[in-house]
Amino acid sequence: MSNSPQIFTTIAEITDWRRKARGQIGFVPTMGALHEGHATLLRQIRSRCDTSVLSIFVNPTQFGPKEDLSKYPKTFERDLEIAAREGVDFVFAPSPTEMYPFGYSTFVEETSRSLPLCGKVRPGHFRGVTTIVLKLFNLIRPDLALFGLKDAQQFFVLKKMIQDLNLGIRVEGIPTVREKDGLALSSRNAYLSGEEREKAPQLHQALLRIKENLKTHPSGASFTRSLEQTEKDLNAQGFQVQYLECLEIPELKPLKDGDPIDPTRPLCIALAAYLGKTRLIDNIILNEEHLQV
Ligand code: PAF
Repeated sequence: MSNSPQIFTTIAEITDWRRKARGQIGFVPTMGALHEGHATLLRQIRSRCDTSVLSIFVNPTQFGPKEDLSKYPKTFERDLEIAAREGVDFVFAPSPTEMYPFGYSTFVEETSRSLPLCGKVRPGHFRGVTTIVLKLFNLIRPDLALFGLKDAQQFFVLKKMIQDLNLGIRVEGIPTVREKDGLALSSRNAYLSGEEREKAPQLHQALLRIKENLKTHPSGASFTRSLEQTEKDLNAQGFQVQYLECLEIPELKPLKDGDPIDPTRPLCIALAAYLGKTRLIDNIILNEEHLQV
Protein backbone atom coordinates (compact mmCIF):
# COMPACT_ATOMS: atom_id res chain seq x y z
CA MET A 1 0.00 0.00 0.00
CA SER A 2 1.52 3.33 -1.08
CA ASN A 3 1.41 6.50 0.98
CA SER A 4 -1.52 8.81 0.40
CA PRO A 5 -0.70 11.91 -1.61
CA GLN A 6 -0.69 15.28 0.10
CA ILE A 7 -3.76 17.27 -0.92
CA PHE A 8 -3.76 20.99 -1.66
CA THR A 9 -7.01 22.85 -2.22
CA THR A 10 -5.87 26.49 -2.28
CA ILE A 11 -3.65 28.55 -4.54
CA ALA A 12 -1.70 29.72 -1.47
CA GLU A 13 -0.85 26.10 -0.54
CA ILE A 14 0.26 25.02 -4.01
CA THR A 15 2.24 28.22 -4.55
CA ASP A 16 4.03 27.73 -1.26
CA TRP A 17 4.82 24.11 -2.16
CA ARG A 18 6.07 25.10 -5.64
CA ARG A 19 8.46 27.72 -4.25
CA LYS A 20 10.23 24.98 -2.29
CA ALA A 21 9.95 22.11 -4.82
CA ARG A 22 13.13 20.87 -6.52
CA GLY A 23 13.87 18.33 -9.28
CA GLN A 24 11.75 17.36 -12.28
CA ILE A 25 8.05 17.98 -11.71
CA GLY A 26 5.57 15.85 -13.64
CA PHE A 27 1.92 16.84 -13.99
CA VAL A 28 -1.30 15.09 -15.03
CA PRO A 29 -4.33 17.43 -15.19
CA THR A 30 -7.72 15.71 -14.88
CA MET A 31 -11.34 16.36 -14.05
CA GLY A 32 -11.39 13.37 -11.70
CA ALA A 33 -13.55 10.27 -12.16
CA LEU A 34 -10.24 8.54 -12.76
CA HIS A 35 -10.03 5.33 -14.76
CA GLU A 36 -7.29 3.08 -16.08
CA GLY A 37 -6.43 5.63 -18.79
CA HIS A 38 -5.58 8.20 -16.11
CA ALA A 39 -3.77 5.54 -14.07
CA THR A 40 -1.54 4.87 -17.10
CA LEU A 41 -0.64 8.58 -17.28
CA LEU A 42 0.09 8.66 -13.53
CA ARG A 43 2.30 5.57 -13.74
CA GLN A 44 4.31 7.11 -16.58
CA ILE A 45 4.70 10.49 -14.94
CA ARG A 46 5.87 8.88 -11.74
CA SER A 47 8.50 6.78 -13.52
CA ARG A 48 9.81 9.77 -15.48
CA CYS A 49 9.87 12.62 -12.92
CA ASP A 50 11.08 13.17 -9.35
CA THR A 51 7.74 14.51 -8.16
CA SER A 52 4.27 13.83 -9.53
CA VAL A 53 1.27 16.15 -9.27
CA LEU A 54 -2.30 15.27 -10.20
CA SER A 55 -4.98 17.94 -10.47
CA ILE A 56 -8.65 17.13 -10.02
CA PHE A 57 -10.89 19.98 -11.08
CA VAL A 58 -14.15 19.83 -13.01
CA ASN A 59 -13.57 22.99 -14.99
CA PRO A 60 -16.85 24.89 -15.46
CA THR A 61 -15.55 27.13 -18.26
CA GLN A 62 -15.12 24.23 -20.69
CA PHE A 63 -18.78 23.17 -20.45
CA GLY A 64 -21.47 24.84 -22.56
CA PRO A 65 -24.71 26.06 -20.95
CA LYS A 66 -26.59 22.93 -22.10
CA GLU A 67 -23.83 20.45 -21.24
CA ASP A 68 -23.39 17.96 -18.41
CA LEU A 69 -21.36 20.02 -15.86
CA SER A 70 -23.64 19.38 -12.88
CA LYS A 71 -23.93 15.69 -13.76
CA TYR A 72 -20.21 15.15 -14.38
CA PRO A 73 -19.23 12.09 -12.28
CA LYS A 74 -17.50 12.94 -8.98
CA THR A 75 -15.60 10.10 -7.32
CA PHE A 76 -13.08 11.98 -5.19
CA GLU A 77 -12.41 9.26 -2.57
CA ARG A 78 -11.88 6.63 -5.24
CA ASP A 79 -9.66 9.05 -7.21
CA LEU A 80 -7.48 9.47 -4.13
CA GLU A 81 -7.18 5.69 -3.79
CA ILE A 82 -6.01 5.45 -7.41
CA ALA A 83 -3.59 8.35 -6.86
CA ALA A 84 -2.17 6.59 -3.77
CA ARG A 85 -1.91 3.26 -5.61
CA GLU A 86 0.01 4.95 -8.45
CA GLY A 87 2.36 6.71 -6.04
CA VAL A 88 1.24 10.29 -6.79
CA ASP A 89 2.97 12.77 -4.45
CA PHE A 90 0.56 15.71 -4.58
CA VAL A 91 -3.07 16.24 -5.53
CA PHE A 92 -4.33 19.74 -6.32
CA ALA A 93 -8.12 19.84 -5.97
CA PRO A 94 -9.29 23.45 -5.83
CA SER A 95 -12.90 24.67 -5.65
CA PRO A 96 -14.43 26.53 -8.62
CA THR A 97 -14.25 29.84 -6.73
CA GLU A 98 -10.57 29.28 -5.94
CA MET A 99 -9.83 29.07 -9.67
CA TYR A 100 -12.46 31.58 -10.83
CA PRO A 101 -13.09 34.08 -8.05
CA PHE A 102 -15.88 36.62 -8.36
CA GLY A 103 -15.05 39.05 -11.16
CA TYR A 104 -12.70 36.66 -13.00
CA SER A 105 -12.35 38.00 -16.56
CA THR A 106 -9.26 36.64 -18.34
CA PHE A 107 -9.28 33.85 -20.93
CA VAL A 108 -6.74 32.45 -23.37
CA GLU A 109 -7.73 31.12 -26.76
CA GLU A 110 -5.98 29.11 -29.48
CA THR A 111 -7.55 30.18 -32.75
CA SER A 112 -6.68 27.59 -35.37
CA ARG A 113 -6.44 23.97 -34.23
CA SER A 114 -9.38 24.56 -31.93
CA LEU A 115 -11.80 25.42 -34.77
CA PRO A 116 -12.87 22.07 -36.31
CA LEU A 117 -14.41 18.99 -34.62
CA CYS A 118 -15.27 19.65 -30.95
CA GLY A 119 -14.47 23.34 -31.47
CA LYS A 120 -17.35 23.53 -33.96
CA VAL A 121 -19.93 21.57 -31.97
CA ARG A 122 -18.90 22.82 -28.51
CA PRO A 123 -18.29 26.57 -28.95
CA GLY A 124 -16.10 27.96 -26.16
CA HIS A 125 -14.97 24.51 -25.02
CA PHE A 126 -11.29 24.88 -25.95
CA ARG A 127 -11.18 28.45 -24.63
CA GLY A 128 -12.11 26.94 -21.26
CA VAL A 129 -9.56 24.13 -21.61
CA THR A 130 -6.64 26.37 -22.59
CA THR A 131 -7.51 28.86 -19.84
CA ILE A 132 -7.61 26.31 -17.04
CA VAL A 133 -4.56 24.40 -18.27
CA LEU A 134 -2.55 27.62 -18.52
CA LYS A 135 -3.61 28.56 -14.98
CA LEU A 136 -2.64 25.10 -13.71
CA PHE A 137 0.68 25.25 -15.58
CA ASN A 138 1.39 28.67 -14.01
CA LEU A 139 0.78 27.30 -10.52
CA ILE A 140 2.51 23.94 -10.86
CA ARG A 141 5.20 24.94 -13.37
CA PRO A 142 5.78 21.34 -14.48
CA ASP A 143 8.71 20.11 -16.57
CA LEU A 144 6.57 17.42 -18.20
CA ALA A 145 2.78 17.10 -18.55
CA LEU A 146 0.98 14.06 -19.94
CA PHE A 147 -2.41 13.98 -21.70
CA GLY A 148 -4.46 11.12 -23.13
CA LEU A 149 -4.74 10.98 -26.91
CA LYS A 150 -8.43 10.06 -26.72
CA ASP A 151 -8.79 13.86 -26.63
CA ALA A 152 -6.43 14.23 -29.58
CA GLN A 153 -7.68 17.68 -30.56
CA GLN A 154 -7.22 18.92 -26.98
CA PHE A 155 -3.64 17.63 -27.06
CA PHE A 156 -2.77 19.40 -30.33
CA VAL A 157 -4.45 22.62 -29.17
CA LEU A 158 -2.51 22.59 -25.89
CA LYS A 159 0.74 21.81 -27.71
CA LYS A 160 0.18 24.92 -29.84
CA MET A 161 -0.62 27.07 -26.82
CA ILE A 162 2.61 25.97 -25.15
CA GLN A 163 4.59 26.74 -28.29
CA ASP A 164 2.90 30.08 -29.02
CA LEU A 165 3.15 31.32 -25.43
CA ASN A 166 6.73 30.04 -24.97
CA LEU A 167 5.82 28.09 -21.89
CA GLY A 168 8.80 25.73 -22.23
CA ILE A 169 6.84 22.75 -20.88
CA ARG A 170 7.25 19.32 -22.46
CA VAL A 171 3.92 17.68 -23.18
CA GLU A 172 3.27 14.23 -24.50
CA GLY A 173 0.17 12.45 -25.67
CA ILE A 174 -0.29 8.90 -24.41
CA PRO A 175 -2.19 6.38 -26.58
CA THR A 176 -5.85 5.77 -25.72
CA VAL A 177 -6.46 2.96 -23.25
CA ARG A 178 -9.33 0.69 -24.33
CA GLU A 179 -11.60 -1.92 -22.86
CA LYS A 180 -11.07 -5.45 -24.24
CA ASP A 181 -13.88 -4.85 -26.76
CA GLY A 182 -12.22 -1.66 -28.06
CA LEU A 183 -14.31 0.99 -26.28
CA ALA A 184 -12.06 3.94 -25.37
CA LEU A 185 -11.98 4.48 -21.60
CA SER A 186 -13.80 7.65 -20.61
CA SER A 187 -15.34 9.00 -17.42
CA ARG A 188 -18.55 9.42 -19.43
CA ASN A 189 -18.83 5.63 -20.09
CA ALA A 190 -20.37 5.47 -16.60
CA TYR A 191 -23.52 7.09 -18.06
CA LEU A 192 -24.16 4.26 -20.54
CA SER A 193 -27.03 1.82 -19.94
CA GLY A 194 -26.26 -1.91 -20.29
CA GLU A 195 -27.61 -1.98 -23.82
CA GLU A 196 -25.71 1.18 -24.81
CA ARG A 197 -22.50 -0.19 -23.32
CA GLU A 198 -22.82 -3.24 -25.59
CA LYS A 199 -23.30 -1.05 -28.62
CA ALA A 200 -20.58 1.55 -27.84
CA PRO A 201 -17.54 -0.44 -29.18
CA GLN A 202 -19.04 -0.11 -32.68
CA LEU A 203 -17.46 3.35 -32.77
CA HIS A 204 -13.96 1.94 -32.53
CA GLN A 205 -14.82 -0.80 -35.02
CA ALA A 206 -16.01 1.87 -37.46
CA LEU A 207 -12.72 3.75 -37.09
CA LEU A 208 -10.76 0.55 -37.74
CA ARG A 209 -12.80 -0.10 -40.90
CA ILE A 210 -12.08 3.43 -42.12
CA LYS A 211 -8.39 2.91 -41.49
CA GLU A 212 -8.45 -0.28 -43.61
CA ASN A 213 -10.41 1.54 -46.29
CA LEU A 214 -7.82 4.27 -46.44
CA LYS A 215 -5.16 1.66 -47.14
CA THR A 216 -7.11 0.10 -50.00
CA HIS A 217 -8.85 3.22 -51.45
CA PRO A 218 -6.60 6.19 -50.76
CA SER A 219 -8.16 8.23 -53.60
CA GLY A 220 -9.91 11.26 -52.10
CA ALA A 221 -13.41 10.75 -53.52
CA SER A 222 -13.86 7.10 -52.60
CA PHE A 223 -12.43 7.71 -49.14
CA THR A 224 -14.87 10.60 -48.56
CA ARG A 225 -17.70 8.29 -49.63
CA SER A 226 -16.54 5.67 -47.11
CA LEU A 227 -16.64 8.30 -44.31
CA GLU A 228 -20.17 9.30 -45.35
CA GLN A 229 -21.32 5.67 -45.54
CA THR A 230 -19.86 4.89 -42.10
CA GLU A 231 -21.66 7.89 -40.61
CA LYS A 232 -24.95 6.69 -42.14
CA ASP A 233 -24.37 3.14 -40.84
CA LEU A 234 -23.65 4.38 -37.31
CA ASN A 235 -26.77 6.56 -37.34
CA ALA A 236 -28.80 3.55 -38.52
CA GLN A 237 -27.39 1.55 -35.58
CA GLY A 238 -28.75 4.10 -33.11
CA PHE A 239 -25.86 6.58 -32.75
CA GLN A 240 -26.25 10.27 -33.54
CA VAL A 241 -22.97 11.16 -35.18
CA GLN A 242 -21.82 14.75 -34.60
CA TYR A 243 -18.74 14.47 -36.78
CA LEU A 244 -16.64 11.87 -38.52
CA GLU A 245 -13.70 13.47 -40.23
CA CYS A 246 -10.21 12.79 -41.45
CA LEU A 247 -7.75 15.60 -40.69
CA GLU A 248 -4.07 16.29 -41.18
CA ILE A 249 -2.24 16.56 -37.90
CA PRO A 250 -0.92 18.39 -35.99
CA GLU A 251 -2.61 21.39 -37.66
CA LEU A 252 -6.00 19.63 -37.78
CA LYS A 253 -6.78 20.74 -41.31
CA PRO A 254 -9.87 18.81 -42.45
CA LEU A 255 -9.36 16.97 -45.75
CA LYS A 256 -11.99 18.34 -48.10
CA ASP A 257 -14.28 16.37 -50.34
CA GLY A 258 -12.22 14.54 -52.92
CA ASP A 259 -8.81 15.89 -51.74
CA PRO A 260 -6.17 13.34 -52.74
CA ILE A 261 -5.05 11.57 -49.58
CA ASP A 262 -1.49 10.57 -48.95
CA PRO A 263 -1.98 7.62 -46.58
CA THR A 264 1.61 7.94 -45.33
CA ARG A 265 1.04 11.42 -43.83
CA PRO A 266 0.15 11.89 -40.15
CA LEU A 267 -3.65 11.83 -40.08
CA CYS A 268 -6.36 11.70 -37.45
CA ILE A 269 -9.73 10.10 -38.09
CA ALA A 270 -11.93 11.63 -35.42
CA LEU A 271 -15.44 10.74 -34.37
CA ALA A 272 -18.01 12.16 -31.93
CA ALA A 273 -21.43 10.63 -31.47
CA TYR A 274 -24.27 10.58 -29.01
CA LEU A 275 -25.50 7.22 -27.80
CA GLY A 276 -28.72 8.04 -25.99
CA LYS A 277 -27.80 11.03 -23.81
CA THR A 278 -24.09 10.18 -23.63
CA ARG A 279 -21.60 11.92 -25.88
CA LEU A 280 -18.66 9.70 -26.83
CA ILE A 281 -15.53 10.65 -28.76
CA ASP A 282 -12.82 8.49 -30.23
CA ASN A 283 -10.12 8.70 -32.88
CA ILE A 284 -7.36 6.85 -34.63
CA ILE A 285 -4.02 8.48 -35.37
CA LEU A 286 -2.16 7.23 -38.42
CA ASN A 287 1.54 7.55 -39.18
CA GLU A 288 2.35 9.11 -35.85
CA GLU A 289 6.00 8.33 -36.44
CA HIS A 290 6.12 11.18 -39.03
CA LEU A 291 4.44 13.65 -36.71
CA GLN A 292 6.19 16.92 -35.90
CA VAL A 293 4.05 18.63 -33.28
O1 PAF B 1 -8.99 16.29 -20.41
C1 PAF B 1 -9.47 16.76 -19.34
O2 PAF B 1 -9.78 16.02 -18.41
C2 PAF B 1 -9.69 18.26 -19.22
O3 PAF B 1 -10.08 18.80 -20.42
C3 PAF B 1 -8.46 18.99 -18.63
C4 PAF B 1 -7.26 18.89 -19.56
C5 PAF B 1 -8.11 18.41 -17.29
C6 PAF B 1 -8.79 20.47 -18.46
O4 PAF B 1 -9.86 20.66 -17.61
